[in-house]
Formats: sequence, structure tokens, C-alpha cells
Amino acid sequence: MKLPERFIFRYQKIIPDFDFFLKSLEKKLKIYIRVNSLKANKKDIEEIAEKYDCEPLSFYPYAFKLKSERDEFSIGNTLEHFLGYIYVQDMASMIPPIVLEPKKYEKVLDLTAAPGSKTTLISALMENTGLVVANDINIDRLKALTGNIDRMGCLNVVITNLHGERFGNLFFEYFDKVLLDAPCSSEGTINKNYEVLNHWSEFYINKMAKIQKNLIVSAFKSLKKEGILVYSTCTFAPEENEGVIDFLLNKYDNAIIEEINISGIKTCPGITEWEGFNRNELKKCIRIYPHYNECEGFFICKIKKV
Ligand SMILES: C[S@@+](CC[C@H](N)C(=O)[O-])C[C@H]1O[C@@H](n2cnc3c(N)ncnc32)[C@H](O)[C@@H]1O
Repeated sequence: MKLPERFIFRYQKIIPDFDFFLKSLEKKLKIYIRVNSLKANKKDIEEIAEKYDCEPLSFYPYAFKLKSERDEFSIGNTLEHFLGYIYVQDMASMIPPIVLEPKKYEKVLDLTAAPGSKTTLISALMENTGLVVANDINIDRLKALTGNIDRMGCLNVVITNLHGERFGNLFFEYFDKVLLDAPCSSEGTINKNYEVLNHWSEFYINKMAKIQKNLIVSAFKSLKKEGILVYSTCTFAPEENEGVIDFLLNKYDNAIIEEINISGIKTCPGITEWEGFNRNELKKCIRIYPHYNECEGFFICKIKKV
């Protein structure tokens, strides 16, 4: 795999053990599954774990890593998948809903939700109670979202097709929890899909950062006082990660970053200094790197409205 020179120049400064990181991008990806707690009982979980030769993950009792070499296609074609007992989802992608900690009977917004990997986990964590509003701008991706919500038996989800930027004014201080799993340059998925590199440029990164800043303002406005907003991306670019959080904190002095504790995963602290920002609290954000965890790269920040 040939990485753009500017990519290497940027990230060798911030990604620890950079040679190890580069080597890890060549490795075959592990497959992770999530057993659907809305459908599976204890016995089903044990049977699935045995049948698919799974290893449990420590941060969520329904999350597993497949020990054997399979591909996403073969697991996606099983009866358990078809019936909504399992969802194939990268380990890192399960973390934002876990950090959000949605509770039973809460009102939760998933602002950019399709195809629903995180929405369906949020719904399961809420045990099918309360309200989850799953929004996405892209009508084609909403079809996949609808399919996944049906398959997983999520009854507490309402789907909307709006520009995410509108929620802050339409639903001002309405939600207990908001997830913004933002559209991004997807650099963290290059170990899964090299084509991400075809449109990689710093221009594109900056373009995404502008969209993310508008979305995070809307997400924060739609959040109740004392509510929690989780911002996540699957990219390494500081402009799209800590830079967006710094922008929010400059705009709202009632936004504070909370610590994130997640067991069994090696996380790195957020970057505190880059072109355009210098803020010590940003180290409370977490970066999940593929070479330390055999998963996609992710950035997660937990914000409280005080
Ligand atoms: C990273 S993906 C979300 C993945 C999803 N959270 C999941 O885990 O399955 C980002 C999504 O944002 C949507 N999107 C992009 N711009 C948007 C906007 N302005 N308002 C709402 N959704 C938007 C895209 O269509 C895409 O589905």
C-alpha cells in the first residue's frame, strides 16, 4: 500500500510507534460481532460464542472477537445474522454508544445514524424503551438503516431524514444524550478499504472539518442541560477531531470534556496542540489506533453541557 507523502509527514508526528502502525495496515482485519441483547438470551449467547469460535471483549458482555479467519461476507450470510441475533461491527465502532451510556426511558439523538451500527446498539442498551431519533441526510443510506433497525428488532427508534444542522433549532435542549458519529475523511478505515486514499487531501480534511463544526453546534444545542454529547470519527486528522472540540469549547463555555474510562482497550490521549489550537483539556479525548487494538482507528470525545 502506498500512502501519500503528506499523510506520512503529518501522522508520523502524532501516531506513536509509527512503523508498527504502518505494518499493521497490511494485516488482515479481525472480525468482531455484537450479539443482540434485544433478541438473544444467555443460552443463545453461549451457543453463538461456541459456534463462531469467539473470544469475549471486556468492555461489553455482548461483544466478541472471532478467533478463526472468516470474512465479513460469510458471517453476514448466516441464519443468526439474518434473524438479527448478531451484528457484524468493528470493535472500535462499538465504543461511542458505550461511552454515551444511554439509559432506559431517555430521549437520545443519533444525528448522523446510517447504516445504524451505533443506533442499534443504543436501542439495545436502552432495552427498547424511551426514544431514539436516528437521523441521516442520505436517503439511500436510510434504507440500510431501516433494514438494520427492523432486523435487530429495535422498537424505540424513529427515523428522520433532515440536515443534521437543523436539529439544534428544531429540538432545542430536548435530548438527554446525543451521538454525533460525524461524516469524516475515514483515514481510520484504510486497513479495511484502501480506496479511502484515492480522495485523500488536506483540502478534503478541511472541508469535512467545516461540516463537522456545523453539526457539533447543532448537536450541542439539541442537548438538555446536564446532558451528554459524544462526538466520534473514524479518522486521525486533528482538524476533524480535537480541532472540532476546541471550536465547540471556544463557542460555548458551558461545554466541558469528561474523562472516558473503557476497559480492555489501549487508548491514547487526544492531541493538545496542532495548527489552530492549543488546549490541555483535549488530552481527555481518546484516540484508538489500529496497531494497538487490531481494529479501525477512532477518535472519541465525551462532552457534558453544564
Ligand atoms: C460515519 S457515517 C455514520 C455511521 C453510523 N453512525 C453507524 O455507526 O452506522 C456518517 C453519516 O453522516 C451522514 N451525513 C453527512 N452529512 C450529514 C448532514 N449534514 N446531516 C445529517 N447526516 C449527514 C452520512 O450520510 C453518513 O451516513
